[in-house]
Amino acid sequence: MSLHVAILSTSIRPGRNSHRVGLYFKHYLEEQTHLSCDLIDLQAYNFPIFEERLRHMEHPPEPVLHFAERVRRAAGILVITPEYNGGYPASLKNVIDLLSDEWKGKPTGLVTVSTGPYGGALLLPSLLFSLWKKGVWVVTSRYHVSKVHEAFGPDGTPADAATADQRTQALVAQLVWSMEAREKMRE
Ligand SMILES: Cc1cc2nc3c(=O)[nH]c(=O)nc-3n(C[C@H](O)[C@H](O)[C@H](O)COP(=O)(O)O)c2cc1C
Repeated sequence: MSLHVAILSTSIRPGRNSHRVGLYFKHYLEEQTHLSCDLIDLQAYNFPIFEERLRHMEHPPEPVLHFAERVRRAAGILVITPEYNGGYPASLKNVIDLLSDEWKGKPTGLVTVSTGPYGGALLLPSLLFSLWKKGVWVVTSRYHVSKVHEAFGPDGTPADAATADQRTQALVAQLVWSMEAREKMRE
C-alpha cells in the first residue's frame, strides 16, 4: 500500500523558523520511509482571513480548491505549528475552519515549535480542541521542538540528527499505523 502524507507548514511569518522543521520532515519522509509526501506551505497560499467554509462558497477561489485537493489526497497529515502567545497561529485556524470532509477522520500528527524551552507544548489544548471538533484523528505521539533556531538549520538540517530521527520515527510509526488502519477499513 503506497501512502501519501501532507506536511502542513503553518507559519506565514517572514523570517519564520518552524518551516525548517517542515523541511526536515520532508527530507526524513523522502529518505527514510516509503511514504510519498507533499510539503504544503501556507505562506505560499497567503489566504485572507477566513470568511466562509469551502462547502458553502458559490465560487471558490482556485487556490482554495488547490489547497483542499492537496489535503484530500493525503492519507495522513503532519501539522507543523509554532506557538504564538500560548496558542496556535491564525493561519492554521483559517484552514481548519475552511475545510470539512477533507479533515474528518484524517490521521494527523502534531509537531509544535518554539524558540523557547517548552517546544510549543502550551498550544496543544486549544489546537486539540479545534481538531477534535472537526473529527480529526490526532495520533497520541507528539514532537515538541524547543529552541528551534538552534535545533534546525535554515535548510532543515537537525543539529542532533540521531535524536531528531528517533523522535520522528516514533511519531511517523503511529501515523502510518493509523493511515493503514483507516485505509483497510475503507476497503
Ligand atoms: C506573535 C508571536 C507570539 C509568540 N509567542 C510565543 C509563546 O507564547 N511561546 C513561545 O515559546 N514562543 C513564542 N513566540 C516565538 C516563536 O516560538 C518563534 O517565532 C518560533 O520561531 C516559531 O514561530 P515561527 O515559525 O513563526 O518562527 C512567538 C512568536 C510570535 C511571532
